Amino acid sequence: MKILVIGTGYVGLVTATGLAELGHQVTAVDIDFKKINKLKKGIMPFFEPALKPLVIRNIQKQRLFFNINLKNFLDKSQFIFICVGTPPKRDGSADLKYIKQVVRVIGQNIKESKIIINKSTVPIGTGLIIKKIIKKYFPGEINVVSCPEFLREGRAVSDFFHPDRIVIGSDNQKAIELVANLFKKIKTEKLKTTLESAELIKYAANAFLATKISFINEIANLCEKVKADVQIVATGMGLDKRIGPSFLKAGIGYGGSCFPKDIRALKQIAGGNGYHFRLLKAVIEVNYFQRLVILKKIKLIYPRLKNKIVCVLGLAFKDLTDDVRESAAIEIIKKLIKQGAKIQAFDPQAMINAKKVLNYRIKYCQNAYEACKNAQFLIIATEWPQFKKLNWQKIKHLMKNDIILDGRNLLDKQKIEKLGFKYIGVGR
Ligand code: UDX
Repeated sequence: MKILVIGTGYVGLVTATGLAELGHQVTAVDIDFKKINKLKKGIMPFFEPALKPLVIRNIQKQRLFFNINLKNFLDKSQFIFICVGTPPKRDGSADLKYIKQVVRVIGQNIKESKIIINKSTVPIGTGLIIKKIIKKYFPGEINVVSCPEFLREGRAVSDFFHPDRIVIGSDNQKAIELVANLFKKIKTEKLKTTLESAELIKYAANAFLATKISFINEIANLCEKVKADVQIVATGMGLDKRIGPSFLKAGIGYGGSCFPKDIRALKQIAGGNGYHFRLLKAVIEVNYFQRLVILKKIKLIYPRLKNKIVCVLGLAFKDLTDDVRESAAIEIIKKLIKQGAKIQAFDPQAMINAKKVLNYRIKYCQNAYEACKNAQFLIIATEWPQFKKLNWQKIKHLMKNDIILDGRNLLDKQKIEKLGFKYIGVGR
């Protein structure tokens, strides 16, 4: 099938590449000229494991093309995927300006019937708005389908080919079947529903996962008061099939480009529809305070942080990504800098992006050992698995003091304590 994908961010690039790998003829367009030129040469705009070889492979097989000219490809494609950003507005609601812009161009330039598939996370009712805008300019039949994307950064390629489900929503059954057919090689549950339900599923799923995280973080804080261990508690909870073991890792709170934005947006959507979503307000609040918990623990040891050297391992909002958007690590660093601490940081992938937000207010180190030199204490802020395998004995010699604040419960507490460190985890 001939497919056009609009937008080459995380969702767009992975979708375009995945669809090409499934055997479709895919053109991905973006207004960013430099990005498209790089993509044509196989240079990735962000770090995502396994994506680069797949992009290159599909370019070589002539199934994947990149271009900046959206208009030229509209009538060459039967399916048009919208994968542009929906950034938050000041009040937390999703800004649809990019979606509306591309939809207007689609409406003004198509000459025959199309299936428009929206993958961006959008407020409920956006599918109908898309349809209305196109109808203003194009009199023919137009079918809008909502097919929300659930991929995780760092695991996006595997998530594309092995999703838990594919949700396809539309008011036109034929359009639903045609879109389902695009993914026929992917063996998974295909949930066929209305536009509105599909749009809400995406928000509801993210909100539920964020709720799980905030819940376990509250349990962790309680664990510290009653001398229980949150990891054991989470294991015990997760063994109940109705709860499940995933998304029960306590830490310094969720971040990233999706959860914070989507949870706030869902709260706004509910409010806009006259419903006060009490639970979401609490989830957001708990997440905000969880970042402060680690700072409180530091303050108990060092009431004054001025000129204290602090090693921070991890800047990304989670492991396997170079993304620092709404990263708890960055927020904690900003607060430490304000109090006069001197930060020495290391992240395997996210230092370039961190520099864009923190500038040179911190020292960026070549490796974890350099970051530890003369540090009064060390914070693990991102759950990179390689931090577990560091030579902690060597780190002990390099540090001035022996305090580890493990914001992700990554290390083996007993082993670390045996080495002579003072170990402070989350809920342990
Ligand atoms: C998320 C959703 O998982 C995905 O389905 C959706 O499409 C986009 O948003 P992503 O933002 O890539 O994906 O990150 P995810 O792996 O879900 O983690 C989100 C945040 O929660 C990270 O900051 C992570 O560190 C944190 N987290 C996750 C926890 O603190 N504890 C957990 O148990 C799981």
